[in-house]
Amino acid sequence: MAYPLRTIQEDGQAVVILDQTRLPRETAFVRLTNLEEAAHAIRVMQVRGAPLIGATAAYGVALGLLAGADDGRLAVVLDTLGETRPTAVNLHWALARMKSVLAPLPATDRCAAAWREARAIAREDEAANAAIGRNGLPLIAAAARKKGLPPAPLPKEGGDQVRQAAPVQAEHAGTVNIMTHCNAGWLATVAHGTAISPIYAAHAAGIPVHVWVSETRPRNQGLLTAWELEQAGIPYTLIADNAAGLLMMQDKVDCVIVGADRIAANGDTANKVGTYLKALACKAHGVPFYVAAPVSTIDFACPAGTGIPIEERSAAELGVSHMRVANPAFDVTPAGLIAGIITEHDLRPADQLAGLKP
Ligand code: MRU
Repeated sequence: MAYPLRTIQEDGQAVVILDQTRLPRETAFVRLTNLEEAAHAIRVMQVRGAPLIGATAAYGVALGLLAGADDGRLAVVLDTLGETRPTAVNLHWALARMKSVLAPLPATDRCAAAWREARAIAREDEAANAAIGRNGLPLIAAAARKKGLPPAPLPKEGGDQVRQAAPVQAEHAGTVNIMTHCNAGWLATVAHGTAISPIYAAHAAGIPVHVWVSETRPRNQGLLTAWELEQAGIPYTLIADNAAGLLMMQDKVDCVIVGADRIAANGDTANKVGTYLKALACKAHGVPFYVAAPVSTIDFACPAGTGIPIEERSAAELGVSHMRVANPAFDVTPAGLIAGIITEHDLRPADQLAGLKP
């Protein structure tokens, strides 16, 4: 299988997803045919990543309305999907958008309209993430120039855009070293990814990049990122989460780019737990820390990070059953630690989000 792949496909009767609970060991697809299956896929993280959760929820509404589309059913469908995961605002954004389109329609028109709107959401996510790649590319190009890296030759006209993996160098001097956390690649979106989209763009433009991939305990989404980069032939090194500070101290990290699950109006950003520690380490070592996300991840109704609900997941994820466990799945990085937010519109300071529209 080669990048780029769309994570979600449909035929107007069913939705097919890549089961992320089985990656990277196994590539398996799951066919979703009804509301319960769509809600289950989001809850157990067969699909995950804020933008993909949003698109799956939108298709979940379409699937749910196959069984009836009166006001009562619409409410049940929206409530069921809305309760699956609390932090990624794309879920709630997508459901609110579906509701605003569907509720005014007669019940007989709702099902077809739901498929149309879900398709529009998926298409827009794909386009937004491609634009995030273009808008994040200049910061990687600038890091390359700062290191005096000669621009690599561009791929031949009409040639394969995906380069073969270069051997990872022991010293990371001849490449732009980007650290990321969790998985914010194409797997976490409809296509292209958010934080990884500029990295794909830089690689395609011939800029030598190497990615420090943080393992991301407890669910190890970093393995998904490593798997993606392997498919794309982009050099990467998987690290334990706690190795990040040392690598920055050793000057082996040029920048950090992460995705987001919910960005408050003031720029405070919720992302996978462990993100905040990376931002703190960046501050200590003068490493720029960027967030990449579509505008659908900005919650303008939430003034600051303290208002972002943090999902608490099961003790089983930490591999224990008879001990007291706290398992917050996300943390919040204050806007003051963020060098810039990359959206489909541009790269801008985290505290200047007002006026952005999806
Ligand atoms: O719990 P997950 O795996 O859904 O969390 C995903 C993340 O935290 C991602 O970094 C975030 O959603 C950005 S995805 C483009």
